[in-house]
Amino acid sequence: MPRSIVFFVVLFVSIGNVCRGAEEPAGQAASNTTDKRVILTPKPAAAPKINGPKVQGCRPGRPFLYRIPCTGNRPIIFGAETLPASMTLDAASGIISGRVPSERGEYAVTLSATNADGSDRRAIKVIVGDTLALTPPMGWNSWYIHYAAVTEANMRNAADVMVSSGMADYGYQYVNIDDCWMKKRGDEPYRDQQKAVLPNAKFPDIKGMVEHIHAKGLRAGLYTSPGPWTCTGYVGSHQHEEIDAKKFAEWGFDFLKYDWCSYGEIAPKPSRDDLQKPYLLMAGILKRSERDIVLNLCQYGMGNVWEWGGEVGGQCWRTTGDLGAEKDTRLPGFYTIALSNARHWKYPKPGQWNDPDYILIGWIGGPSPDQPVHVKLTDDEQYSYMSMWCLMASPLIFSGDMARLDPFTLNVLCNAEVIDVDQDPLGKQARILRQNDDELVLAKPMEDGSVAVGLLNLADSPRAMRVAWSDLELTGKRRVRDLWRQKDLGECSDEFTSDVNRHGVVLVRISP
Ligand code: GLA
Repeated sequence: MPRSIVFFVVLFVSIGNVCRGAEEPAGQAASNTTDKRVILTPKPAAAPKINGPKVQGCRPGRPFLYRIPCTGNRPIIFGAETLPASMTLDAASGIISGRVPSERGEYAVTLSATNADGSDRRAIKVIVGDTLALTPPMGWNSWYIHYAAVTEANMRNAADVMVSSGMADYGYQYVNIDDCWMKKRGDEPYRDQQKAVLPNAKFPDIKGMVEHIHAKGLRAGLYTSPGPWTCTGYVGSHQHEEIDAKKFAEWGFDFLKYDWCSYGEIAPKPSRDDLQKPYLLMAGILKRSERDIVLNLCQYGMGNVWEWGGEVGGQCWRTTGDLGAEKDTRLPGFYTIALSNARHWKYPKPGQWNDPDYILIGWIGGPSPDQPVHVKLTDDEQYSYMSMWCLMASPLIFSGDMARLDPFTLNVLCNAEVIDVDQDPLGKQARILRQNDDELVLAKPMEDGSVAVGLLNLADSPRAMRVAWSDLELTGKRRVRDLWRQKDLGECSDEFTSDVNRHGVVLVRISP
């Protein structure tokens, strides 16, 4: 063969390769932790790497608590240049505490972390104003593992594990009790002499529990209903909103999930005004509270809540019914929730997020509290789940068992580059570029001008999937990086194509 032809063929093949990703097969039908699983997230380096959001929203003068999320071998010495004078950093733990400055405005802070293997720096902004949750909240919620059996010990343990497992090093922060911490219907008295709500016997020292969570640099959340009873028949806040919110702040809580439940008895055929009323009331009370308390609306998407959840003072709102109760179709139930939530992509912005419910992977609650079951999702389905939640700028709230976190589950929850998509300060939800029975393509614009694109294969066999620059309103050469594998795939012109596993995802970031 003449040399020029050989050269031409080689060149052609290599250009073709650059813009084609190819997925290695991941475990298809793994149903428990003993099956061989394909871990994509690279191990963190020994040198420090600071993760987490680049912006912190808070109200003037309120208590402030933030544990710098950072991977790398301990001990690490932390620094925070130009930290507002009202805050202090503990250099050994990386916990910043104190008060938000009383003057509104943007405070630029440079975080640093140094260990024997190297150092890292990260510029963040503390934005003092009216907006909380400038990026979607990240954390853990007790519901899908403990249900009504939740105890104070479970909550304390969840906080311990959030740190010891490394989750907190990636930005997981809120440790949230769901339903069933208060007294159950029939178990009187429900309230003390001042009418403040009483925890049940499983929570002997709720203030101590919150202090324990805070001592780790984490934030604490809880749950109640605007109705007289919660969804499982525990005491709600109806007509005690002011006193309950005051108590929650006194205990030190930082997050409130406010679940419609029995409010249907108060407003049986709710108009939009009726739907908004209890949330407006609670949001108003929380705004005046002496703490910053994030308000999570939980009313399952009634009355197109995505159109007004922010206006009534919520930082995030559930857009659907319970993910854990969603029946599987041809695809596992989380896809139905995701596809429904994906439609409302126009609404979110910093401080106002669509919430498609929790991340249910790993071990979740089974027939009894001591018999958890492992979710029956393939590796690929779990990567798809996490990718969609990040592309949709969803709150990242894990609700599986903190006492049984296996390496695969942690690899899904803790990929810093995947989480960066979720936590991007621009705060846009991905728009749907393509959706049919076989394919879903989501594209999320990022603050630095790049675009995160998820190629999701909904079909029952592997397929080649493509995104064209023309779909993204891009032209010219772009760098493409595979986020799960944290690997540059090269420069592409016009398009990127990849093989995608059955129910799998290829998540890339396309940069100028
Ligand atoms: C509702 C909510 C769930 C959970 C339960 C608790 O169903 O949607 O997320 O909080 O109530 O009872």
